[in-house]
Amino acid sequence: MKKEKVPSDYIVFPLDLPTVDKAMDYVRRLSGKVGMFKVGLELFIAAGPAILETIRKTGNAKIFLDLKLHDIPATVGRAMQSAARWDGVVFATVHCSVSPAMLEQAVSGSGGKIGVLGVTVLTSVSGRDLGLAGFDPVFAQDPSALVMKRTQMAYDAGCAGVVCSGLEAGAVKARFGKSFVTMVPGIRPAWSGLEDDQKRVVTPAAAVQNGADYLVIGRPIRDSDDPAAAAEKIALEIGRALAG
Ligand code: C5P
Repeated sequence: MKKEKVPSDYIVFPLDLPTVDKAMDYVRRLSGKVGMFKVGLELFIAAGPAILETIRKTGNAKIFLDLKLHDIPATVGRAMQSAARWDGVVFATVHCSVSPAMLEQAVSGSGGKIGVLGVTVLTSVSGRDLGLAGFDPVFAQDPSALVMKRTQMAYDAGCAGVVCSGLEAGAVKARFGKSFVTMVPGIRPAWSGLEDDQKRVVTPAAAVQNGADYLVIGRPIRDSDDPAAAAEKIALEIGRALAG
């Protein structure tokens, strides 16, 4: 029987750490307090793919392989085939900026074993950034329009969902349905007081109220004096928001 989702299952902790030892220290401390560990470029490059097996063997949390692939369709498809050989990986990312064929190959390479998530517009990117990068002024004025356009590409290619900000999660759910996954970074609890590279940010409560399925929460947990307590506090906030 499928286990009912509890508030901590919404939390995805990015193992943005430079060594296996440091990453595994967080895996042990946060085991049971978060639902998923995200392996991104920093740890993957430092530790290699064997880290996926090490994490899998340590607890029950799922693994999100966030390498944000972006290459010719054949290469992305084959990279996804390689990723699918690692047990415990439930989601992996590919950019959905320019190539429907790249997305299609990612989905086909996953062989249905991994949910492919399309990265729409990074939450660290503002409308001003889009304007400076030469995007149509329509998108510079309203980045969510570009998020929706790219989400359509991901949906049409058969992706399991997208990575988007909490500001767009509601619109994505409304247009693409409840089962289309929204993975939401750029989460900043009101108490975190962080001001950094994240620009399109929301609180954990606002994210789940907007329909986010998963909340990627890194620095507010990683850099807190007590990471496990910070994760528990966030789970409480999520629980309250879901209840009412
Ligand atoms: O909460 P914090 O900002 O520390 O989370 C950072 C993590 O979120 C990084 O691992 C980064 O790769 C990820 N991220 C993402 N997609 C975005 C923005 C950040 O996966 N749009």
